[in-house]
Amino acid sequence: MVDVPKRLPLAGLSGKVLLLTIVFVMLGEILIFLPSIANFRVQWLKTHIAQAEIAALAAEAAPGQIVDADLRSTILRGAGVEAVSVMRGDKRQLVLRGDHPGMVEETFDLRGGQYYTTVLPALNVMFLQSDRLISVIDKPPAMTGNTIEIALHEWPLRDAMLSYGLRILGLSIVLSFIVAGLIFAALNRVLVKPMRRISDNMMHFADRPEDPARVISPTMRSDEIGIAEHELNAMQVQLQGLLQQKTRLAALGLAVSKVSHDLRNMLTSAQLISDRLGSVKDPTVQRFAPKLITSLDRAILFLNQTLTYGRAQELPPRREILMLHDIIEDVFETLRFQAGDAIALVDDVPRTIKADADREQLIRILTNLTRNAIQAIEARPATGDEIRISAAREAGVLHITIKDSGPGIPPVIRNKMFEAFQTAARSGGTGLGLAISAELLKAHGGSIRVAETSEKGTILELTLPDRPAP
Ligand SMILES: Nc1ncnc2c1ncn2[C@@H]1O[C@H](COP(=O)(O)OP(=O)(O)OP(=O)(O)O)[C@@H](O)[C@H]1O
Ligand SMILES: [Mg+2]
Repeated sequence: MVDVPKRLPLAGLSGKVLLLTIVFVMLGEILIFLPSIANFRVQWLKTHIAQAEIAALAAEAAPGQIVDADLRSTILRGAGVEAVSVMRGDKRQLVLRGDHPGMVEETFDLRGGQYYTTVLPALNVMFLQSDRLISVIDKPPAMTGNTIEIALHEWPLRDAMLSYGLRILGLSIVLSFIVAGLIFAALNRVLVKPMRRISDNMMHFADRPEDPARVISPTMRSDEIGIAEHELNAMQVQLQGLLQQKTRLAALGLAVSKVSHDLRNMLTSAQLISDRLGSVKDPTVQRFAPKLITSLDRAILFLNQTLTYGRAQELPPRREILMLHDIIEDVFETLRFQAGDAIALVDDVPRTIKADADREQLIRILTNLTRNAIQAIEARPATGDEIRISAAREAGVLHITIKDSGPGIPPVIRNKMFEAFQTAARSGGTGLGLAISAELLKAHGGSIRVAETSEKGTILELTLPDRPAP
């Protein structure tokens, strides 16, 4: 099983989603905060301009326009400004001025101001270190002239902006939590939870992949998560199939070893007994005894190889130059009994044709293929049944043809007959003969194919290339 790093509270997908939502909502709040604080400053200044204009109007209304110092400072204090002047036409009229207004440090013109040009001055005010006197120019709201200019201290503006900012900040925090919570809950439901279901299932499945109950059941979603669920499901099902096959093959391998082991012991006893047959004088016994002994020797050798070399793999071929005609005679000799009198076994191979192959393996290939043909013919006997093997050489490649008069290869297995365990339901075989033959030929660099198959018979073609010259 793969080691999965332990999930820290915020390292998981939901923690990341939560952090990101908070960050982005905060960013949104800041973007809204900047213009609103700028707007607050402009409105605050405009209020003071309106108050100053009323104050100026009041001063003008005094008899002879003479206002004493006390009244003047009361009016100015009431409007929150240090001085007011109004321009009428080109004439500048200073209407009201305090006793010690001081020096104006900066002038702001509110006429035609855009919001984005007011953001920087607003931020500036928030970070003021000391009070300063500023002057502000605007159109007079009551239209007593063309322009009105006031002088005032910035400190009160800063205080108002700070308390406004704090109020907004408090509200923003509450809103961010609500919005972040909502977004988080939605994302969690739509993305995080389904993703976690998939990753949890992967770990659960990896623990015991052979358990069919642990295969994920896909939901009805049609988005990427739905696709991931379907793909995962397909992969898990496929993996289980492969695992089952592997388990079956492993069990089979063990069974083969056991069978080989005990079979070898039984055959060894048979070999000891058959050795004695050599001394029997009967001519039939004299004729068959050596063949029986070779067959037994071959079987014991083969079982020993299977046991020592491993279960599933064949030994690499030990190639030598063989006379093909003789090999086929050998094969026919051992199968003649099984073929009986009704099936003619015809060795059509010219005596001069040589094969460059592992003797035992070539015998096994030809025995398997000929036995298949015999079994096929037995399933539908007819007069004149025969199995004919012929061969030809061409540019360093030996071509062997095996032709039978059987009923043809059943269509259901035609496409996969060279794979292991593919057998016609009623043949009673294991379905290994062709797979073994194909594997042995491949180890020689050769191949096997069905050249023709119909109810008139089957033709198999084998190629067996010579070893390249050293
Ligand atoms: N010459 C043939 N004519 C018709 N059918 C054939 C022929 N050779 C093979 N077959 C079909 O191919 C199937 C697979 O053959 P294969 O030799 O691999 O397995 P098997 O003969 O069933 O079992 P075993 O492992 O004992 O040989 C056979 O069951 C048979 O139906
Ligand atoms: Mg067979």
